[in-house]
Amino acid sequence: MHAQNMASSENDPEITSLAPAYMCTDGLLEMRSSEISSCLVCHNIYCAERGSIRIGEEIAARLEAAGSRVVVTPYICFGACPDAPNILLYPEGSWYTEVTQSDAAEIAQHILGGAPVERLRDRIDPGLRKLILEIIDSGLGRF
Ligand code: FES
Repeated sequence: MHAQNMASSENDPEITSLAPAYMCTDGLLEMRSSEISSCLVCHNIYCAERGSIRIGEEIAARLEAAGSRVVVTPYICFGACPDAPNILLYPEGSWYTEVTQSDAAEIAQHILGGAPVERLRDRIDPGLRKLILEIIDSGLGRF
């Protein structure tokens, strides 16, 4: 299931400072900070078998080379194993699925302030995304 970025600055100019926004399963818009302080990379078996560790290492190297303070850190499992490798930017909330090594540079650019990599972003069940972000927001499963 593909999540949709439901808010648009074309419709509401006030939304631009709070982007991205997502339509939740309860029909309410969820607004998250645009800040990215952590890049969470799943290191569990499905993601690791598909290269998540090396992808995370490349993103970390690119961020370090750019002088970024964003931390690239392992995550135990997002519960989206069939969509591996999974990467979640926190607290902003972009969730990248089926990431490949060749996507690492674009994801690093997003973290550094560039545009999100829309072809890879938020293609997971919005309910799962909401649950995982609530778990992390609550301090459980914190890194
Ligand atoms: S193995 Fe990565 S989401 Fe489960």
